[in-house]
Amino acid sequence: MPQQKFNLLDVRTALKQGIHLLREANVPSDTLAAELLLLHITRRDRTWLYAHPEELLDPQTIESYFSLLRRRAAGEPTQHLTGKQEFWGLEFDVTPDVLIPRPETEHLIEVALDRLAVRELRSGRDPKLTGEGLTIVDIGTGSGCIAVALAKELPNARIYATDISPAALVVAQRNATRLALSNHIKFLESDLFSAFSASPHQSPATNHQSLLFELVISNPPYIGRKEASTLPVEVRGHEPASALYGGEEGYELYGQLIPQAALHLKPGGLLVLELGHDSLPAVRPLLETPQWTNLLVTNDLSGIPRVLSAERTSA
Ligand SMILES: C[S@@+](CC[C@H](N)C(=O)[O-])C[C@H]1O[C@@H](n2cnc3c(N)ncnc32)[C@H](O)[C@@H]1O
Repeated sequence: MPQQKFNLLDVRTALKQGIHLLREANVPSDTLAAELLLLHITRRDRTWLYAHPEELLDPQTIESYFSLLRRRAAGEPTQHLTGKQEFWGLEFDVTPDVLIPRPETEHLIEVALDRLAVRELRSGRDPKLTGEGLTIVDIGTGSGCIAVALAKELPNARIYATDISPAALVVAQRNATRLALSNHIKFLESDLFSAFSASPHQSPATNHQSLLFELVISNPPYIGRKEASTLPVEVRGHEPASALYGGEEGYELYGQLIPQAALHLKPGGLLVLELGHDSLPAVRPLLETPQWTNLLVTNDLSGIPRVLSAERTSA
């Protein structure tokens, strides 16, 4: 194959050509993707991009940039090419072993913090939260984005983060360490709450079975396998199946998660769950039992019921 030659290009032209290449391939958010890839290759920030449109890029930079553009056009997510995604104002490493954190998941953090503050108010305490006395678990932590965001907001909380995927836990632990929050979070390999259930094989030092939580938070896999072929190639072909699919229909894992959460929450403790775009009718009835009260559905910015939260009764 003949070696492709790259002439010098200025920043503005490189960006224009990048956007054009992605648009031709029907890549969503083509302008943002081209910008992020150019910033990644040049290790610059957005201010530089628009302050120096005439600056010439060297052939090596241009070649690397166009190589990433072609991979993006072929379906690789931008975040896998840059290795980064922002969530809750923090920068997370992402790899193909974890779900790329989505903006709608930030609603989970908002709902959890709001409801914890309301609980404090109701008890006549200061609603300004530090996390003092709170034990929290994030089930299916993936990149660690939920646990790490909560550790930032609630520095005195004791936080556990679990995942069934050891590879995801490596990424989550790395994020917590890089963001200087690893002292606040204990990462555990676990199938839902199995790490917190009695096991005769665990020594008391590693056995977390006696733990009861004030907050169980989770963004579980909730896409139906039957919908797989309708997903964009970026998702279907590049994100881990264990992070995407909750079963054939999608909502199956909630059927195990909710009863297990009821066993591991203190009376008055909170369950905060992310929902798929059509999960609510299947999931809400699981919380309409005597074990739960104060159900709340929170919509995302597109008006989709995105967060379902409830309080454990003392029944
Ligand atoms: C939708 S992703 C969410 C990742 C991350 N919490 C986020 O919001 O970006 C679901 C995560 O749950 C994990 N998971 C799937 N089944 C699980 C199970 N039975 N027990 C624990 N974690 C599970 C997956 O490995 C994946 O990391």
